[in-house]
Amino acid sequence: MCGIVGYIGKKNSASKFVLSGLQSLEYRGYDSAGIALLSKKPQVIKQVGRVEGLANQVTDEKADSHIGIGHTRWATHGSPTMLNAHPHYNTDQTVFVVHNGIIENYQELRERLVSEGYSFVSETDTEVVPHLIDFYLRKHKNFFTAFGLAIKDLEGAYAIAAIYDKEPETIYVARLSSPLVIGVGKDEHFIASDATALMDRTKKVIYLDDYEIAAITSDNVSVHNIKEAVEVKRAAEELDYDHEKAELGDYPHFMLKEIHEAPQTIQAAIRGRVRADTNTIKLGGLEAVSQQLKYIDRIVIVACGTSFYAGLVGEYLIEEIAGIPVEVQLASEFKYRKEPFSRSTALIAISQSGETADTIAAIKKVENYGVLTLGVVNAVGSTIARITDAGVYCHAGHEQSVASTKAFIAQVTVLTEIALHLSEGRTPLYKPVLQELLELPDKAKQVLENAPEIEKLAKKYSSYRDFLYLGRNYAYPCALEGSLKLKELSYIHAEGYAAGEMKHGPLAMIDKDFPTFAIACDSELMEKTISNIQEIKARKGPVLAIATEGNKKVSQHADDVIYVPSTLEQLQPLLVCIVLQLFAYYVAVEKGYNVDRPRNLAKSVTVE
Ligand code: M6R
Repeated sequence: MCGIVGYIGKKNSASKFVLSGLQSLEYRGYDSAGIALLSKKPQVIKQVGRVEGLANQVTDEKADSHIGIGHTRWATHGSPTMLNAHPHYNTDQTVFVVHNGIIENYQELRERLVSEGYSFVSETDTEVVPHLIDFYLRKHKNFFTAFGLAIKDLEGAYAIAAIYDKEPETIYVARLSSPLVIGVGKDEHFIASDATALMDRTKKVIYLDDYEIAAITSDNVSVHNIKEAVEVKRAAEELDYDHEKAELGDYPHFMLKEIHEAPQTIQAAIRGRVRADTNTIKLGGLEAVSQQLKYIDRIVIVACGTSFYAGLVGEYLIEEIAGIPVEVQLASEFKYRKEPFSRSTALIAISQSGETADTIAAIKKVENYGVLTLGVVNAVGSTIARITDAGVYCHAGHEQSVASTKAFIAQVTVLTEIALHLSEGRTPLYKPVLQELLELPDKAKQVLENAPEIEKLAKKYSSYRDFLYLGRNYAYPCALEGSLKLKELSYIHAEGYAAGEMKHGPLAMIDKDFPTFAIACDSELMEKTISNIQEIKARKGPVLAIATEGNKKVSQHADDVIYVPSTLEQLQPLLVCIVLQLFAYYVAVEKGYNVDRPRNLAKSVTVE
């Protein structure tokens, strides 16, 4: 949700770094982009739309600078226009600011500044910041003081970078509940919303904490905590992972590429953790809290979107395999609920990006209850990975497409491992699930071989306006996730339902124009789902189903069937979801939509 990037160094190459950084942060927002450089005189270049368009405008190498900040926007306040694009500046055009987050008290600040004679050109919340800095600068004549005072006035969430025409040796940054990382180079520093944007240049990073501001020159970073009014000593940390630059290869879209990475994703999530010869699970990230885990009698999972649905699969897995009661809550609801906690509760936060504002707020909410917090996170070094007590990384690699696909597969794999780990081998399911997990990469490959068939069916069903997804037990969260994928990519109205709920309302919608995607793989409850399919057919609803290879019953009732290899019911989501992801992908392609950048969305949701 908005990406910010900055460079200060001894070389005149700010625009090169800022533009390439913005390109890798474009998943955070792609409504408009902009850059501010301080060369002989300040330059601000903006563009509505993609970073590529901005890069085409920044062509004058002689005009490049040793200092610059850039921004890619996901609009919150005001539509995507040139005036609303960042950087924003004061009336004299001496102070330039980029911002990620939401300034909740901006109306009040704006009124205050207007009464002081300031005028505004944009509808954004951000524009108050350069004016506020200007206001304090006139009083205190010192930029760092003015910057700190302005930041103290802000309420909400922000990562902010500012540069000042009269101090072209320094970038000023601030952070509260929004990610910001400083990269340390030789005679240069980089800033970015996410470490992936600077990993090509350095692996040494400094993370800022809430209420911290920093003044960054080419060879120094000085950090202050504005709440406690103290200087903070912060050493650089070494990032301990390699970032593969996201390349499309022969794939037309990142989403298709990432779905096709499912076998390697499962493999990466089990590598070194699941041992077939000894039937053991080793989760290094949980070792430090192994004693505490023994006393856990309740687990609350918090997450948003696709990660929430992975959490629902986790609920079925942990309850059935480990016998511990689990509740899955939407992080955005959980953080405002007033519910009791005991020290024997553990909270598991699931997040691909590790930066989702609601999920971070949910973790912070339990900080004072002595609740053990665990992260199931993909992005290494992200906020959630750092603020939880312990956790298990997903190791899915960088996910570029806005729709979460391989990350979901990795999250479900990790949750299966956590369920097995918590069971301490006390369930008869332990060995079969553990052994079968090792077969899943090959089975995922077999599902992917079916892609041409899924593409054909996607074309057949792409012109419907509505879709119902149905499943029972482990297939129910898959139905929810399948419907989310379809709506976010193809803008078709889709609803996921527990099949048993059909007769309690949704059946009323069914007619020949309202198709159903039924997940009816072999399980104890399959016959019941087949009955639901018959009820839909009796009302002329078209039915597309997923069934287990070799099953003869589902095809007697459904109009079309996609088959997946036979596996344990507990592991079916890992195969079923590949089908649902491919189906949503091909429908969106058929409709001519931008699958990697669906309208109105951003990959990392860092605001409430
Ligand atoms: O990074 P997170 O996993 O915390 O993100 C949560 C959701 O925003 C995310 O899963 C979203 O629903 C995806 N676009 C779904 O494809």
